[in-house]
Amino acid sequence: MKKIIHCCRGLLGIRDRVMSIPLIQGGMGVGVSLGRLAGSIAKKGGIGCISTADCGYLEEDFETHPEEANLRALHKEIQKAREISDNNGLIAINAMVATQQYDDAVKCAVEDGIDAVISGAGLPTSLPSLVPEGSALIAPIVSGGRAAGLILKVWETKYNRYPDFVVVEGPKAGGHLGFTSETLDDQAKTPDILDLIREVSEVIRPYEEKAGHAIPLYAAGGFWDREDIENAIQAGADGVQMATRFIGTYECDAAQGYKDVLIRGTSRDLSIIKSPVGMPGRALMTPLLQRVKREGRIAPLHCSRCIKTCNIAKVPYCITNALIEAVKGNYEEGLFFSGANIDRLTKMCHVSEIIDELFAEMIERIPVPVKC
Ligand SMILES: Cc1cc2nc3c(=O)[nH]c(=O)nc-3n(C[C@H](O)[C@H](O)[C@H](O)COP(=O)(O)O)c2cc1C
Repeated sequence: MKKIIHCCRGLLGIRDRVMSIPLIQGGMGVGVSLGRLAGSIAKKGGIGCISTADCGYLEEDFETHPEEANLRALHKEIQKAREISDNNGLIAINAMVATQQYDDAVKCAVEDGIDAVISGAGLPTSLPSLVPEGSALIAPIVSGGRAAGLILKVWETKYNRYPDFVVVEGPKAGGHLGFTSETLDDQAKTPDILDLIREVSEVIRPYEEKAGHAIPLYAAGGFWDREDIENAIQAGADGVQMATRFIGTYECDAAQGYKDVLIRGTSRDLSIIKSPVGMPGRALMTPLLQRVKREGRIAPLHCSRCIKTCNIAKVPYCITNALIEAVKGNYEEGLFFSGANIDRLTKMCHVSEIIDELFAEMIERIPVPVKC
């Protein structure tokens, strides 16, 4: 069994690898956060996160054997992240419950010695059964206190397990969102992430005694600078999960064309869309989405069996194909997810510059590795 460490609140470790900054890089599929970005974040002491969603899209046999291609690529990306990380920080996967390959991807990553499994886009009620105790840290992504309470109860009752940490993702995040379109469209109804932090904090803190360890809470959605992070911590979070800001890094795994689309994009181009996954999502209103709006449907030409609930005969367009076109930089045919803070993404930089700007004092205060 591996040694799982919950050291100073918010900082986690497994075996001899520890976090030294309270930052998780949010998983970004398809192919936006793979081994290079995840490894670069871990190298600086955070949790770098590989998205498992169709991560084999560049494999030669992806079209014919997507499942095998994805698992092979996941193995390679975990190796790559490990090498880049210099044994600092933690390497995680982001696995979406809504994906067909959810169980297999989690099991494959655990076999490969992944440090943490972070799971959302649905309630990850079965996650403890896929990750043997002591093998990796497990964490649900929730959108509020109700979902957090439900997960904690199910995990406790069914598996006698507790999350090693929790991510609360608010309405300013990119990708799929755990709120209804009505809530997102009406500013008066849209919850504030700081309130969600307080709400989830209240739900998880009573479980810490039963768990016998702290359950750090990371807040996601719209965090950009030090002030944002300080506000989250003030509200009761132990750290933050950030994604959109890391798209503008040289280490981000997407093509430069993808990064340029996001850098050029503004909040005026953003829209809350109903994704084929069945959840709302925040994305740029690209020609693909305009065409779907006009024509009602672009029938998929091919199916890589990605989403559990997808009905190929009815789906408005193939989300896998659209996300793959995006990550390759195809503006016309791609689906580009983004967080609400897109206006602040204006130039390229290195992961290390962002982390030094956000956490320099902290890195000086907490030398790597953290003494637990
Ligand atoms: C391009 C993009 C792709 C994303 N893909 C996923 C994903 O595959 N799974 C997931 O759980 N979250 C996904 N997210 C959400 C992020 O992991 C993260 O929690 C969120 O975007 C944080 O907000 P921020 O982008 O404002 O920092 C995605 C976000 C973006 C911007």
